Amino acid sequence: MKTEKGERVSEAEIAVHWQEEEYYQPPESFVEQANLTDKGVYERFSPDKFPGSFEEYANLLHWYRKWDAVLDSSHPPFWRWFAGGKLNASDNCIDRHLPNYRNKAAIHFVPEPEDEATQHVTYQELFVKVNEFAALLRDFAGLKKGDRVTLHMPMVPELPITMLACARLGLIHSQVFSGFSAKSVADRAADAESRVLITMDAYYRGGKLLDHKENADEAVELATKAGQKIDKVLVWQRYPGRYSSPTPLVEGRDFIINDLLKGYRGRRVAPEEMLADDPLFLMYTSGTTGKPKGCQHSTGGYLSYVAGTAKYIQDIHPQDVYWCMADIGWITGHSYIVYGPLALGASVVVYEGVPTWPDAGRPWRIARDLDVNIFHTSPTAVRALRRAGPDEPAKYEYHFKLMTTVGEAIEPEVWRWYYNVVGKGEAVIVDTWWQTETGGFLTSTMPALHAMKPGSTGPAMPGIYPVIFDDEGNEIPEGSGRAGNICIRNPWPGVLQTIWKDPDRFVGQYYSRYCKDPASTDWHDWPYLTGDGATQEADGYYRILGRIDDVINVAGHRLGSKELESAALVIPEVAEAAVVPVADEIKGRMPELYVSLKAGYASGEELEQRISDAVVAEIGPIARPRAVLIVPDMPKTRSGKIMRRVLAAISGGADVGDTTTLANPEVVAEIQKLHGRYELAHAA
Ligand code: WTA
Repeated sequence: MKTEKGERVSEAEIAVHWQEEEYYQPPESFVEQANLTDKGVYERFSPDKFPGSFEEYANLLHWYRKWDAVLDSSHPPFWRWFAGGKLNASDNCIDRHLPNYRNKAAIHFVPEPEDEATQHVTYQELFVKVNEFAALLRDFAGLKKGDRVTLHMPMVPELPITMLACARLGLIHSQVFSGFSAKSVADRAADAESRVLITMDAYYRGGKLLDHKENADEAVELATKAGQKIDKVLVWQRYPGRYSSPTPLVEGRDFIINDLLKGYRGRRVAPEEMLADDPLFLMYTSGTTGKPKGCQHSTGGYLSYVAGTAKYIQDIHPQDVYWCMADIGWITGHSYIVYGPLALGASVVVYEGVPTWPDAGRPWRIARDLDVNIFHTSPTAVRALRRAGPDEPAKYEYHFKLMTTVGEAIEPEVWRWYYNVVGKGEAVIVDTWWQTETGGFLTSTMPALHAMKPGSTGPAMPGIYPVIFDDEGNEIPEGSGRAGNICIRNPWPGVLQTIWKDPDRFVGQYYSRYCKDPASTDWHDWPYLTGDGATQEADGYYRILGRIDDVINVAGHRLGSKELESAALVIPEVAEAAVVPVADEIKGRMPELYVSLKAGYASGEELEQRISDAVVAEIGPIARPRAVLIVPDMPKTRSGKIMRRVLAAISGGADVGDTTTLANPEVVAEIQKLHGRYELAHAA
């Protein structure tokens, strides 16, 4: 392909039209108390100090035996971090904190019903509960080191308790997001070959006590069909002592954990001394194509990496009250609700329900009542709260020192609302870019060291060396602002070890593309492919443009979906925007833009026109959407991600496929109707 001027444009080249944003400096009050204020950190993690630099993170943990080698890279790309070292994650997240913090809250559990009291689990109580449950898993369920256990648990303290009990015994947990279907539980249990499923009878979501146990019955049945017998289903009770599900228990297969635990009172289980590269857990990625991939994370490397990054980037001190408003069923929750913060002895908030339940002031009441000072969430949640209650944060007396955003690029408009209104101009924001596979953050500003720039994630983390390649494998010059495929040159302790039972797929998916010599045993030849498009600006900050396939090619001109959406969000009435490509005879592809409005605004042609004009004004005439469709709500996954696939199918007049996993399947028909009307009106 050639540009108008005749220059060759590589497949990786993406037109970037985001304007430069102004910098925001971290507040003095933050800098004064920050864990990391020493710029020398980048010197300590310089390339010539690799891999020894990462001992700084490992040294945050308690080891039974010190490692023989920081990194054994003799069999690329199967890296062994802290090889020969021995530790236990449950010991690191609980036992070692007892001398100093036994009476301090480890977990503040906030039930969704607002009249239900918050529960505070101290580190001592966590210790007792984890030990008793570990004893039960070993002696009643017959589980032993290396066995896989599938969890399908909601956001309750019993979830981290279960994870830590597994870790104590060296069992590999595989938590499946509670909003996922029985079918996804069955597929994952079959892949992991787990014969024990741990679940809960019921939980609250959006004001309803949902029957959760029924999923377990269906999952067991489907797993059996897939060749995996699940012989025990262990059920926690949402209200201890009372079974809250209408679904009956199956005799001899289903057991109420709260009843069984009575036989394990006071039991203690010594933590297994695990090798650093023994797996800690599997996290299946939501497999858009083919079967889900079980990302396997290690004990030593992973725990070191999440502890180090939680300390430096989230600035967690033991006295902080930290709330990550995400679900533990995702990697964010594993790394930055459970393992990272608890390894540092923090007090973490676990909130059961929907952020906007019963109204958009809920998160800020929780923040006020628990005196939360570190807040972590996603752009999707920020957009939802901005839409439903733009003035709510100001009504509540709370003070954040640090806020993070993760999971998608955040539009500068939304970033500014987050900064000014949620953060009240007092909090540092870190925009952290990473993935299920990477275990922890890859890029972010260092909160006390760097200025923030809305829409940019910041420079690479210490010890992480990104490189941006074009499609031919040429390196795009650093700081050039040109887009390409972002990879990481070097291994780091948090990276996945492999895909469970599928090492070939692991190599193919993450390493084959830019590996010049598959026979090489030198790690330099094995860059990790993230699958994201990115640019690096002259200031060294990275902008993530989305998955490589999120790019829309209009008349040979590549537009990142994110920048189109960002342009639409400049219009004050717009709450959310999603763009999808549709085929066009002349231009190849054109963007169609779906938007939802903030509460209290009505759709209309004038508004559609203004949105369309804004996109042109922000990006250029090439970006004018073929249609602007104002919809009542976006089709969303239970985790809140907009399902562009469904919108693309509607735009393309194709079958929308399976929509049962959506949080709001009913909007699909409404959007189809709107689109149909649009087509009729423009048929002439
Ligand atoms: C995207 C979530 C822009 C990216 C931790 C990545 C982001 C995918 C950001 C991983 C960010 C994550 N800015 N995009 N700060 N963080 N992403 O596995 O496309 O659920 O590849 O992990 O989310 O999603 P995952």
